[in-house]
Amino acid sequence: LSIIKPDAVERNLSNEIVNLLKKNNLKILQNKKIHITKEEAADFYKEHQSKPFYDSLCNYLSSGPIIVMELSGENAIQNYRTLMGATDPKEANKNTIRQLYGVSIDKNSVHGSDSSESANRELNFFFKDSNS
Ligand code: RTP
Ligand code: MG
Repeated sequence: LSIIKPDAVERNLSNEIVNLLKKNNLKILQNKKIHITKEEAADFYKEHQSKPFYDSLCNYLSSGPIIVMELSGENAIQNYRTLMGATDPKEANKNTIRQLYGVSIDKNSVHGSDSSESANRELNFFFKDSNS
C-alpha cells in the first residue's frame, strides 16, 4: 500500500509521484482519493499508539485528502521503500520521493507498507471491498 499524504496532494504532486512509481517499475493496481477521519487514522496507525508523535500523526493524516494506491511489481515493498527514502526528508537519499518533496518528518509526502504482513492489513483497510 502506498499513500500520497495530505501535504503532497495539497501541492498537486501526485502526478509527479505517480511518474516516479512508473519509472521504477511499480504498477498501480487500484487507487482512490479519500479524506479519512481522525478515528480512521488512529486505527490505521495503531502500531504507533504508544509513540509521542501518535496524536499529531493521526491529526495530520486526517487533515486533508490522501490518495491510496495498491502497488505491484517485483520486490515491490522494498523497491518502493527505497524510492520513498528515509522517514525524515533531511536524511533521505538524493532523488527519493521524500528528499524531493518532503517538508518535514511529519509532512513527508508518502507512506509505504514495510512488510507483506502490513501490506495485507493496510490494503484490506482501504480496499476491503475488492480484497477480502
Ligand atoms: P510511513 O509509515 O508513513 O511509511 O513512514 P515510515 O515507515 O518511514 O516511518 P514510521 O516509523 O512507520 O512512522 C510513521 C510516521 O510517523 C511520523 N514520525 N514522526 N517525530 C518523529 O520522531 C516521528 N517519527 C515518525 C512520520 O511522519 C512517519 O512517516
Ligand atoms: Mg511505517
